[in-house]
Order: sequence, then structure tokens, then C-alpha cells
Amino acid sequence: MGVVGGNRGGCVVGAERVLPDKVRLSAVCDIDETVLERWRRDQPDLKTYARYEDMLGSGEIDAVFVATPPALHAEQAVQALQAGLHVLSEVYAATTIEDCWRLIEAVRASGKTYMMAENYCYTRPNMMVLNMVRQGVLGEPTYAEGAYIHDCRSLMFDPDGSLNWRGRSRANPVQGNWYPTHSLGPVAQWLGIHRGDRMVSTATFVTRAEGGWRYVAEHMGSDHPLASPNRMPAGDSATTVITTRRGCVIVLRVDSASPRPHNMTHYVLQGTSGSYLSERWHGESPLVWIKDRSPEGEPQWQSLWELADDFEHPRWKAEGETAQAAGHGGGDYFVVADFIQAVLTGEPPPIDVYDAVAWSSIVPLSIESVSRGGEPVDVPLFRA
Ligand SMILES: NC(=O)c1ccc[n+]([C@@H]2O[C@H](COP(=O)([O-])OP(=O)(O)OC[C@H]3O[C@@H](n4cnc5c(N)ncnc54)[C@H](O)[C@@H]3O)[C@@H](O)[C@H]2O)c1
Repeated sequence: MGVVGGNRGGCVVGAERVLPDKVRLSAVCDIDETVLERWRRDQPDLKTYARYEDMLGSGEIDAVFVATPPALHAEQAVQALQAGLHVLSEVYAATTIEDCWRLIEAVRASGKTYMMAENYCYTRPNMMVLNMVRQGVLGEPTYAEGAYIHDCRSLMFDPDGSLNWRGRSRANPVQGNWYPTHSLGPVAQWLGIHRGDRMVSTATFVTRAEGGWRYVAEHMGSDHPLASPNRMPAGDSATTVITTRRGCVIVLRVDSASPRPHNMTHYVLQGTSGSYLSERWHGESPLVWIKDRSPEGEPQWQSLWELADDFEHPRWKAEGETAQAAGHGGGDYFVVADFIQAVLTGEPPPIDVYDAVAWSSIVPLSIESVSRGGEPVDVPLFRA
């Protein structure tokens, strides 16, 4: 495997450690020489490339992990597919609807494996809820929430003081939901999107911009050029509502600028015979209520973990320890393991190009909705 984008791309190393007979990282491409220098120091056998085309044409790799800033993912994935390589793409997959279709076409034309690396689908509670949904324990889903609340203001600047891609997204006047897949991915799997249901329409609303410029004023001085709402105009918090063909409603919130503790894994699921509520902070228990199973009397929450013996996802039962050993809560291991499995068997990966583009399409669709004052817009039918 080769990696493009040598920072987040490093997460392959953990999976390589626990899957040594299946994956070998042999090349890294990055436009930043200091990043390549770090890799050469840590892994002298690794080939390093400053030009992506050189790595694609090297003949040394079978697959690429695309881990550059999001705006580059679609183009770099298409280039790799056209070079005859399998692609594992970081989130999100594409920034425009045109690129969503281009990606689908490139995957179809290449016959190669494409998977989006949405690791939040693989956390232990999210997989356990998926297992419960598939066993019908919660009944028919009707409503779900996902939120990714991650105060990224301290990550907006490179060491030289220039804005990086996270910072530039705060300086971008185009309003929308710019990071939807961590919150949407697990929920889409629970609701069977593309597996019985589909997203139909979506509307997004964005708050005013307060977090970014205030952070700059506080930490870099109120006379800093970016210490003004006009220069950091991206709204702090985006709320997206999605309706589905089977009459479900999904509510997503993405917030990377409000001053508050993180809550990157907020999820809710309501079914006709049960309800799920994720933990609010690390260490708190996720909660569940199941009709005719949870304690009798008035409906009462119980810890999800009390039901682990019956409903732990089989993958977490069998591979949980290995996954944890690979780091980052286990999600990165499952992503790489499922990608490799799909490459080796030729079977579709669990998060295929249709899932990837549908979940990612919330970015351009949210921009369109906000520009029309929050009007609902149709979600394209990517998979007939
Ligand atoms: N799934 C997760 O949990 C998770 C966590 C962190 C980041 N991410 C995703 O990973 C991606 C990268 O995030 P990051 O935090 O590592 O960002 P980063 O800015 O720290 O790193 C991006 C790297 O890409 C390199 N790069 C930029 N343009 C390039 C080009 N044209 N060719 C080659 N290299 C190029 C940069 O030099 C940098 O080293 C993003 O898409 C982000 O959404 C996902």
C-alpha cells in the first residue's frame, strides 16, 4: 500500500502491525519534505515521493490510502483508479456532486476496490447497535441523530502561522455542513441506507460565526487580520435534516468552532420497540431501552454494556482485542481489514463508492440548501 498525505496516512502503520501478512506499507507521498523526512527517519526502507504521479506509476504498490485534505480526495482517488490501483479514501470522498458521479464512473471503469475509511462506523457501541438493529431488537428505525462536535480551533494554523485546510474552512464564506460523514455514516448503516432505504431530501441551517475569529483575537491579538467575523465567516454549528424514503428523519450536527468539550460520537436511534442514546463523555455508558426486555415498569434506560453478552457485534467479539492493539479505538484496524478483505475477495466493501458519495454529497447539498435559506434539496439517487 502507498499513502498520499503522510500525516493521517500514518494510521495504516497500526493496522500493518496487527495484519503483517496482509498489508505492507511501502510508499508515502507528501508535498511537505519535512513530513517525508520524518517517515524516512522512522522507516528507512520506505519509498518516499513528492509527486503523486510518480508514486502511482512506480509499480511498487497495489493500493493507495488517500489521506490528504478533503478537497483533494476525489481527484486523487480517480487518478489512482485510472492507474489500476485499489483505493481506500479518507473522509469525505468528494466535495461536489459532479465529483461524486466522476468517482462512481472511475470505480466502475477500473473494476478496482474503492472504500471510504469512515472509521466511526466501527466503534464498539456503533457496531453493537448495528448488530441489534439487524436482529430487529429495536424494531423498525424511525429517527436518528449524529453529531460531530470537535473544537478544532487550535488546529487551524500551521507552525509558520498560515491557515491550514481546517483554518481555511473557517475563512471560507461558503456556508454548509463541511464534515458530515462521521455523524452520518453509522446512522446510515443503522437505517439501511442503500440496503432497503435511501435519503430523499435534505436541508441545512448554519449559526453565525463566533468561534474562529474570537479564538484568533484571544490567542493572537485583536489586531490580527483574522480577528474579525468577516475574515472567519464560516458558521460555528451546522444542523442538517435528512428525510428518507421509508419515512425516517436524520438530524446531524457538525461543530468545529464552538468553545466546549468535545463530543465527537453523539448518536441517537429511535425504533418502534427500542431507543439508543450514546455516551456524552469518555467513560459514561451508552444507554438503551428495549421494550419487553429492559427493567419492567416505567421505561428506564439501562447501560448498553449490560447487553454485551447478547449483542456485542461478532467482529468485536472475535477481533476486538486485535483492533484495540492497532490503536485509535480499533476503528482504523477494521477499516483497513475490511478494505484488504474486499481487495482479496473482489467482494464489495462494507462502505462502497455509493455509500461514500451519498454520505459525502451532504457537503454540496448543504451548501445549496443554506444558499436558498434552508430550503430542502433532493439527494441524487446514486445507486438505483
Ligand atoms: N477518520 C478520522 O478519524 C480522521 C482523523 C484525522 C483526519 N482525517 C482525515 O484525514 C485527512 C487528512 O487530515 P490530517 O489531519 O492528516 O491533515 P493534515 O493537514 O495534518 O495532513 C495532510 C497532509 O497532506 C499533505 N498534502 C497536501 N496536499 C498534498 C498533495 N497534493 N499531495 C500529497 N500530499 C499532500 C500535507 O503536506 C499534509 O502532510 C482529512 O481528509 C481528514 O478529514 C480523518
